[in-house]
Amino acid sequence: MDRIAIHGGARLNGSIPISGAKNSALKLMAASILTDRPLRLTNMPRLADTKFLGRLLQALGVEVTESESGGEQETLFHAREITSTFAPYDLVRQMRASFNVLGPLLARTGHARVSLPGGCTIGARPVDLHLDALSRLGAAIQLEEGYVSAVAPDGLRGAEIEFPFVSVGATEHAMLAAVMARGTTVLRRAAMEPEIGDLARCLTAMGARIEGIDTDVLTIEGVTSLNGADWSVIPDRIEMGSFAVAAAMAGGEVRLTRARAELMTALTEKMVRAGVEVTPTEDGVIVRRDPAVRLRAVDVETEVYPGFATDLQAQFMTLMTLAEGESRIRETIFENRFMHAPELGRLGADIHVHAGEAVVRGVDHLIGAPVMATDLRASVSLVIAGLVAQGETIVDRVYHLDRGFERLEEKLTACGADIRRLKGDE
Ligand code: EPZ
Repeated sequence: MDRIAIHGGARLNGSIPISGAKNSALKLMAASILTDRPLRLTNMPRLADTKFLGRLLQALGVEVTESESGGEQETLFHAREITSTFAPYDLVRQMRASFNVLGPLLARTGHARVSLPGGCTIGARPVDLHLDALSRLGAAIQLEEGYVSAVAPDGLRGAEIEFPFVSVGATEHAMLAAVMARGTTVLRRAAMEPEIGDLARCLTAMGARIEGIDTDVLTIEGVTSLNGADWSVIPDRIEMGSFAVAAAMAGGEVRLTRARAELMTALTEKMVRAGVEVTPTEDGVIVRRDPAVRLRAVDVETEVYPGFATDLQAQFMTLMTLAEGESRIRETIFENRFMHAPELGRLGADIHVHAGEAVVRGVDHLIGAPVMATDLRASVSLVIAGLVAQGETIVDRVYHLDRGFERLEEKLTACGADIRRLKGDE
C-alpha cells in the first residue's frame, strides 16, 4: 500500500493548475448512458474514482476511450448499445457514485439491477431519497439481496418531487432520470451545488429541457431522445479549496489557475477572517500569507451550497490547529466526519470532538508522525498538516487520496513542498 512522506517547513510558492471536478465528472459519465451518441468530456480528471466508474460503464456496454491532446485530457463515452443493465456489488461498493447509473439505465432501457452502495466511513449515507424519486417517476422498485431491481416497462413519467431535505446525489439522480421521462418533472428543494449546474448544462447541450438551473427548483420537460455533446468538466472547487488552505497553512504565495474563485466564496470569507489574503484572478485565485503573522481562530459550520462545503471541513480544521484562539467547527451534513481529528491529534493538534462539533485550540506548532488517512478529504487534511509539521509525517492509506486528487505530490512539489510517494514495499 502506498504512503506519502512529507518533510514539513517549506513555504509554498508557485502556480498550481486545478483539475476538472471529480464530483461533476462522475455524474456526467453516468449521463453518457442516456444516449447512443458519443459524449466527449474534456478537462477530465484522471482519478481512481473516474477509473472505477469507467470500468462499470464498460461492463454495461459503454465504449470508453481516453486521449490527450495539447495537454488537455479528454474521454469519449459512447453507449452505442447497452449490453447489460446489471451493476454488481463489487463495482458499486468501491464507489458510491456508481449507484447513479440506476436512473439513466431505467430511462434508456426500462429496467436495471444495481447493487445498494452501503455506508462508508463518513456516515450511513442511505439512498432512500434516490429510490423515492425514481418511484415517483414511475419505476417499480424492489430491494432484494442487497440489490435494487427497478422496472419501468412503459417508460418513466414526469412527477412533482419535493425532497424532504437537500441531497446532492438524489437531485442529480432524479434529474438524470427525468430528462427522458414523459411530461414535466418539478424537483423542489433541489441541491444547488455547482456540479449539479454543470450536469444540467451538459444535459441541456445533449438536448434536455431544464429550467431553473442553479436554483432549488428544477423544471424538466422530458424528451424522447438525447444527442451526444462535447462538454468541459467544471473546475474542482474542492481541490482548489484544498490547495488554498495548503498555501495558507505553509505560508508563501500560490496562484491557483484553471479555476473559478466564485465557487469557493464561503471558504474565502473564512480564510480572509483568519488572516489569509485571497485575491480572485481571471482564472482562479492567488493565496498569500506571511508566515510570520499568526492565523486567527474562526468558527465554521458546514452547510449545503452556497454554504461552507463539508468536503472542505477537514482541511479548514487543519488550518485552525495553528490559529490563535479557539475555533468551533460544526459538521451538519454527515454524522461521522471527524475521523481526521484524532490523526491531527497525533501531530500535536488540540482538538476535542463532541457530537457534531469539534473545538480546536490553536497550538504553536505540529510535530511530524505516522498518520492514517480515513477518507478522501481527511487524507488531504493530513497532507496539509504534514507541510508545516516539524520533521517527517508519513500518511498511510493514500489510496483514499488517489480517489479524488490528481497528481497531488507533483502539484505541491512544483511549489516547493518536500513530499514524495513511498511505493508499497519502500
Ligand atoms: C455528494 O455526496 C458528494 N459526492 C460528497 O463528496 C459531498 O460530501 C456531498 O455530496 C455533500 O456535498 C459526490 O458527488 C460523488 P448528499 P452525496 O446526498 O450525494 C443524507 C467527496 O469527498 N442522505 O447530499 O452522497 C446523507 O447520508 C464526497 O468527494 C440520505 O439520508 O451527498 C447525508 O447525510 C464525500 N438519504 C446527507 O443526506 C439519501 O437518499 C447529504 O448527502 C441521500 C442522502
